[in-house]
Amino acid sequence: MNILIAYLSYSGNTEEVATFIHNRLIDDGLHVDMHEIGIDPFVDVSRYDYLFLGTFTWEEGATPDEVKDFVREVGYKPENVAVFGTGDTQFGGDALFCKAAEKLAIFYNSKWEPLKIEQSPRGYQEQRIDYWLEGVLQDVKSFA
Ligand SMILES: Cc1cc2nc3c(=O)[nH]c(=O)nc-3n(C[C@H](O)[C@H](O)[C@H](O)COP(=O)(O)O)c2cc1C
Repeated sequence: MNILIAYLSYSGNTEEVATFIHNRLIDDGLHVDMHEIGIDPFVDVSRYDYLFLGTFTWEEGATPDEVKDFVREVGYKPENVAVFGTGDTQFGGDALFCKAAEKLAIFYNSKWEPLKIEQSPRGYQEQRIDYWLEGVLQDVKSFA
């Protein structure tokens, strides 16, 4: 069972969520690799059973170019993609909040609703990550 967490983060919020997920999965005894989009060298996603894909949302609900490039590099739609995102409701309210994560989840026909975190996950939102992860992990454990 191999899991990859690939994420893009400029100011650290999405990285915090990625790290939180990483630590939880490690605690569960799972093997997890991290891939920082736009920084780390090419990764062969086909070697992994699950992809956790994290992004923030950019100008008016846009997906950052680096994430679009990553999606192109991957080149196919893996079966198990769980999407997480961070955003800020100050940039267009609920309609645009974490729009990039929503779009990616639809693109990959994700089995799970995208996790949407407002800015930093530190504090009460950590419980939301745990709740979301429980749903994904049910699937991961039945696979294992
Ligand atoms: C110019 C700009 C535009 C943004 N537009 C949106 C947006 O449309 N929707 C949203 O949810 N967040 C938007 N955000 C907020 C970021 O997605 C949010 O701060 C995110 O947590 C940043 O992630 P990072 O710390 O991992 O880089 C915007 C931020 C900036 C600076």
